[in-house]
Amino acid sequence: MSTAAITKNSRYTLNNGRTIPITGFGVYQTPASKATTLVYEALKVGYRHIDSARIYQNEEESVAGIAQFLKEFPDVKREDIFYTTKIWNEEQGYETTKIAIESSLERAKDIQYIDLFLIHSSLTNKEKRLGTYKALQEAVATGKVKSIGVSNYGTHHLDELFAWEGLTIKPVVNQVELHPWLPRKDLQEYAKKHDFYLEAYTPLTQGQKFDDPELVAIAKKHGYSVVEVLLRWSYDQGFIPLAKTATVARIKPNFDVLDHVVLDAEDLKILDKPDSYEVLTWDPTKYEG
Ligand SMILES: NC(=O)c1ccc[n+]([C@@H]2O[C@H](COP(=O)([O-])OP(=O)(O)OC[C@H]3O[C@@H](n4cnc5c(N)ncnc54)[C@H](OP(=O)(O)O)[C@@H]3O)[C@@H](O)[C@H]2O)c1
Repeated sequence: MSTAAITKNSRYTLNNGRTIPITGFGVYQTPASKATTLVYEALKVGYRHIDSARIYQNEEESVAGIAQFLKEFPDVKREDIFYTTKIWNEEQGYETTKIAIESSLERAKDIQYIDLFLIHSSLTNKEKRLGTYKALQEAVATGKVKSIGVSNYGTHHLDELFAWEGLTIKPVVNQVELHPWLPRKDLQEYAKKHDFYLEAYTPLTQGQKFDDPELVAIAKKHGYSVVEVLLRWSYDQGFIPLAKTATVARIKPNFDVLDHVVLDAEDLKILDKPDSYEVLTWDPTKYEG
């Protein structure tokens, strides 16, 4: 789908034929005590894609927000909602991943299945990464996990996966840090060539670039917030941005960006920094182990 045609309710078709809502709501650093309410509010506003992880320690609470919403809004079906979780580094390896999948499924029992299970990062070794992927492939066969993918994989980790003779199910996404100061052109090319999407984490730079003079000037020119500019930029690249907020009042403006925010060619040129490599969080994509 061309990014010119997208709306806040659009879904991209993954390489396995399933679809993913392009507007993602992340819950990293969202306290478990607030996750149920925030996820429920996000769904009420219109988000249909929730991104959690075992290490965020809010899987159960995020699922509870989804389950509560589905109960109260029976017109929305389970299949309309897309729930992601991830295998943490210490759980990697074939046998340990099988156990980790079962425990994430147990925490997701009120929504019956997990839409997308990712390997959280590359920070282990070849045997563990491939063993983890093997267990994820087997989970798809049970129907309890619908799609699988990776996160924080560099091109050499992707090469390792695509060269593996055991590969039977291609990753549907690679979730990595992406914003104008970290566009990762190599991973963009790789994703295009191998037919998977890039999910953009930290699309708002965790606030670290909100004072950037070029970003502020673009926002001012149009009367947008810097957050709106950052999210529109991410959609314009064809990414699936995962915006996080633990502030209820910010959920709707973040979700509504595609209704009214448009960047012109001059803005996009200013934000196009192909050689910039400014990591704001962590960067397992460069890990050589
Ligand atoms: N796979 C990985 O390794 C990985 C790593 C990092 C993140 N992620 C995923 O990506 C998601 C997003 O990334 P992130 O959490 O690092 O950060 P982010 O989305 O770039 O930024 C979140 C920050 O922006 C603030 N914010 C949100 N909306 C705002 C608004 N409208 N106005 C002003 N400030 C606003 C939030 O404040 P408040 O919360 O206080 O409102 C929070 O401080 C995560 O939740 C997670 O799902 C994945």
